[in-house]
Amino acid sequence: MTIYSASAPAKAILLGEHAVIYGKPAIAIAIDKRVVTTVQNSYEMTLNGKHIDMEYHPHIEYFSEKYNEKPIAVTSATQIPPSSGLGSSAAFCASLSLAIRMKREDSKETFDVANDAFCAEFHAQGRASPIDTFTSTFGGGIAINANGIGKKLGDVEKNGNIWHVESVKVPKMTLVVGYTGIKASTSELVNRVKQFKEKNSFANEIIDELGTNTETGIRALTEEDFVTLGKVMSKNHRLLSVLGVSCNELNKLVEASEKYSYGAKLTGAGGGGSMIALTDQPEMVCKAIRLHGGEPFVVETTSVGAKEES
Ligand code: PMV
Repeated sequence: MTIYSASAPAKAILLGEHAVIYGKPAIAIAIDKRVVTTVQNSYEMTLNGKHIDMEYHPHIEYFSEKYNEKPIAVTSATQIPPSSGLGSSAAFCASLSLAIRMKREDSKETFDVANDAFCAEFHAQGRASPIDTFTSTFGGGIAINANGIGKKLGDVEKNGNIWHVESVKVPKMTLVVGYTGIKASTSELVNRVKQFKEKNSFANEIIDELGTNTETGIRALTEEDFVTLGKVMSKNHRLLSVLGVSCNELNKLVEASEKYSYGAKLTGAGGGGSMIALTDQPEMVCKAIRLHGGEPFVVETTSVGAKEES
């Protein structure tokens, strides 16, 4: 039986998480850690050899319903810690989206692969922006609502929201990721911000400020001005803390890394997961993170997005 295999990279959100859900700009980069996913026809729906109940696997459910797929066996192997803020589920969706298209002999146009991956993520989370899934599918840098700083890829529409998606040329950068070891649920954190917004207009002010801050950061990134970018990242972290999505463990790792970095911040949904530091002293940052209870690893940016595997 033919096995169809595809892989996709993890991502780190440099700036703009949470605020991007409400139409503000954001920028993410693909990093050199990948998920490899395979699909093949089967007698029952399985994931890594075990029968699955769709209720607990909404990403797979999305594809199964959309394509009215006969049962398939899915396998997934990942170098990305799950629920770590590095987009493991987005990379899974991007690689699954491509593998299913290979099996169906459908168009493998990158925008279509990414859009399907986004819809699966949206279906699973109930609320999502396209930043994770588009970065995992296209690779390199993806900016949302960045006012033409990058190259336009297209618009994504969902539930009355429109996101303008651009690809941005990303310089070679070294980031240290500090994993708190705390698994955090993206949908719970996204919901927490939604409730804060509904109860208190102060949340809107923070979200506006996150937007302005991110615009400055995207400009600095394209000018390879790491000093400004780092300052913007650290400010972004403080604003996200006020928004209620950081935690003590993340704050400790950010503070410890800032000494040896241009800047540092939580990345992704927060509440645990990971932080990132932009640095040219990765060993020092790793040491500081380890000393403060985190698990560090050094990552580089990658331009390789979702791709077919043999
Ligand atoms: O934690 P992650 O990697 O799933 O990132 C979530 C980013 C959010 O802005 C919080 C949600 C989204 O869909 O944009």
